[in-house]
Amino acid sequence: MDGLHRGEMLDQTSRSESRMPPVIIEPFRIKVVEPLALLSRGEREEHLRRAGFNLFGVPAEAVTFDLLTDSGLSAMSTEQWSAIMRADESYAGSRSFARFEQVVRELTGYRHVIPTHQGRAAERILFGLTVGPGAVVPSNSHFDTTRANIEHGHGVALDLVIDEAREPSVQHPFKGNVDIEKLEELIRARRDQIPLGMVTITNNTAGGQPVSLANLREVSRILRSHSIPFFLDACRFAENCWFIKQREPGQSGRSVREIAMEVFRLADGCTLSGKKDGLVNMGGFLAMNDETLAQRARNLLILTEGFPTYGGCAARDLEALAVGLGEALDERYLEYRATSTAYLARGLNEAGIQTVQPAGGHAVYIDARSLLPHIAPERFPGQSLACELYLHGGIRSCEIGSAMFAKIGPDGAFHGATNELVRLALPRRVYTQSHVDRVIELCGEVAAGASRLRGLRRTYAPQFLPHFTSRYEPEA
Ligand code: F0G
Repeated sequence: MDGLHRGEMLDQTSRSESRMPPVIIEPFRIKVVEPLALLSRGEREEHLRRAGFNLFGVPAEAVTFDLLTDSGLSAMSTEQWSAIMRADESYAGSRSFARFEQVVRELTGYRHVIPTHQGRAAERILFGLTVGPGAVVPSNSHFDTTRANIEHGHGVALDLVIDEAREPSVQHPFKGNVDIEKLEELIRARRDQIPLGMVTITNNTAGGQPVSLANLREVSRILRSHSIPFFLDACRFAENCWFIKQREPGQSGRSVREIAMEVFRLADGCTLSGKKDGLVNMGGFLAMNDETLAQRARNLLILTEGFPTYGGCAARDLEALAVGLGEALDERYLEYRATSTAYLARGLNEAGIQTVQPAGGHAVYIDARSLLPHIAPERFPGQSLACELYLHGGIRSCEIGSAMFAKIGPDGAFHGATNELVRLALPRRVYTQSHVDRVIELCGEVAAGASRLRGLRRTYAPQFLPHFTSRYEPEA
């Protein structure tokens, strides 16, 4: 599935009638526009210096292409904005909650639906109730907020993703899969320490890579046979199910919704950040079948988020999320979405830039180590590349390498990250093909001058989550 190009996924008859594959268009037109910032390099240099060479510190109005994350930036549809207007903001028992609950129940099959303001709030409640000292929670790869919430409860967040996922250039259709042997081995050795098992769909940490239906069925079978609850981190469920339909033998004849309904029913519950495939700017939920756990979760929800019929959301957020969950399963939208990401990856590859293979659902991950072999990990090659993409083209990306994960040992030794990646995440329904074309062009220009880039010296790092607030200076 490497190098999809426009039209690749359309059926063979329509492709053979014309020599060129038909262009897959953005399946929407634009009603509200927001101007893009077009600054000079000098202006960007000033912003970056003030931000300590950390792109999280750059004001959004100084960014042309904001590819920092796909989370919370979705453009909402006319149906979502209309739903917002009909929202019932009652403190208790609002009509909007009833509508939202029904949509989530139909999609997931879970009996208890608990709204939260975003994904990590659902994680905080779930792990607050299930994880204590000595607990081990296996997953394919935990996202950093799930890991942090498990570790906050003094538990261990264990990544059991297949080995292929650790090698950026290796091709595999389901690089998000759980290594089943490792999962069985863990259960044999430490069954009593496992309060629940998790799978992240798609696997963000490993490059936005999907998990196959066969793998999810197997994980479900194993966990159920040991009576271990199985939860999905489901924020990119629709993109994952689209890849199942495209890549997995026997699945092409099913609708993505049908696949999604099966996937949710293989698990006992989920956390879901609506800011991704929910197509909203804020909102999420925790859902499950276990009545006792749900009761305890609602009690905790009231402490920190709000009454169970709104959680951490306004009713209008729940309305928009209920509509968004349906729109994310529209297959014309998903085709456009997956094709855009693959198109970006292919453009970068043609410009000589290596990326994690195959392209993920929501983002393309540039391999900064291969582009900047002259910059040592302790000089942060990914961060250096991310800074240059901003200086040269106003592109804001996110380093996922040593700036994020490096550890300093007790002896002061620097332990760099496994991979030095720079993520270009595509917000949903926000940028057009010409934007993506320009991003490819700008990245190509940066790559052509890569040998001139210098590393960075870190001048400040906080104790936790260093990528948000660390500061740097360019090497002399
Ligand atoms: N799980 C996964 C797989 C995620 O990617 C995220 C957020 C969360 C949970 C937490 O959700 O932000 O609503 O609290 N990912 C964003 C990103 C921030 O940029 O990848 P949240």
